[in-house]
Amino acid sequence: MQRVGGEHSVSMVAAEEFLRLLYHEQPSVGELSVRLAEVRAEIEATGTYRHTEAELEFGARVAWRNADRCIGRLYWRSLKIRDRRQVTDAAGIAGQCFDHLREVTRGGRIRSAVTIFAPDSGAGNGPRIWNEQLIRYAAYRGPGGSVLGDPRNLAFTDLARRLGWCPPAERGPFDLLPLIIEAAEGELHWFTLPADAVLEVPLSHPDLPWFAELGLRWHAVPAISCMPLEIGGVRYPAAPFNGWYMGTEVGARNLADTARYDLLPQIARRMGLRDGALWRDRAMVELTVAVHHSFEAAGVTITDHHTEARRFLTHLGREEEAGRVCRADWSWIVPPLSGSQTPVFHRYYDPPDTTVRPAFLPAQ
Ligand code: ARG
Repeated sequence: MQRVGGEHSVSMVAAEEFLRLLYHEQPSVGELSVRLAEVRAEIEATGTYRHTEAELEFGARVAWRNADRCIGRLYWRSLKIRDRRQVTDAAGIAGQCFDHLREVTRGGRIRSAVTIFAPDSGAGNGPRIWNEQLIRYAAYRGPGGSVLGDPRNLAFTDLARRLGWCPPAERGPFDLLPLIIEAAEGELHWFTLPADAVLEVPLSHPDLPWFAELGLRWHAVPAISCMPLEIGGVRYPAAPFNGWYMGTEVGARNLADTARYDLLPQIARRMGLRDGALWRDRAMVELTVAVHHSFEAAGVTITDHHTEARRFLTHLGREEEAGRVCRADWSWIVPPLSGSQTPVFHRYYDPPDTTVRPAFLPAQ
């Protein structure tokens, strides 16, 4: 097999750009010229190079710092790295994803982490996780074009069923989907999420007693698993990472978008709102209040958009002080509820630039 060059051969230019950044920001790691010579020789001999633990850690953290859609970047330095490059079989990868969820959930005191599996190399593609997030809810087509569950996951649910996954005997709107892992090219394996790896929060409202009867819930940990991580020219296709929720993600998007759970008409009806112009807005506020109230009552980390907007401006200030450009995508940074009440609304940002690396890349 040809190992030098080929489809996945790493560019020395990309490797050098990354190493220069690391040695510039962390001079204590050592002598840049020594490492550059080492990496150049390794790329010439094998077509790629192996990151040290320090490189992996810095690379993943800076990939978060470069995530121009993320409002939560103030804490980019606190990202915990789980180096699992040696785990290459599908069952081992699934097990590590479950351990990731257990380690970051901590009964509700959520922390941020990324688990990094093997990169693409001359020997073949690295593993890939087909799920958009490690925890997601199934969707089933019903009569008249109706959908039970999260319509966003219709195609994925179909895929899981084609592979042999069976929905629970009694289907509901919040059935956990299995993980689907491609370890060897073209071979997909599915794994049920163990109950102890998934914390969920049942939703209730502080002043609307009927709210709990709606039977709504959401999972505690958002863990994106479809974005390849690229560091210094090396691509890691499976690098699931998590943060914690901002209430609007669940209350003003996942449960409210018309293409998702579309719950605002039902909630407005229960609130006794007639057809006035702003019934959606009023229902959205109460749904988001319920999300915050329930997560807090369950002792699960959650943050609000006013707090995160302020923190994001603190982050921008710190980046500027460090002499860096912080790029941001206004349409993602501004929250979907009360945008103009948050300071991130009232300004523009250095625009996204798709060539900035290290980065979590768009879903493959
Ligand atoms: N918006 C996505 C969701 O609702 C999660 C994106 C990442 N969010 C985060 N707080 N780290 O599931």
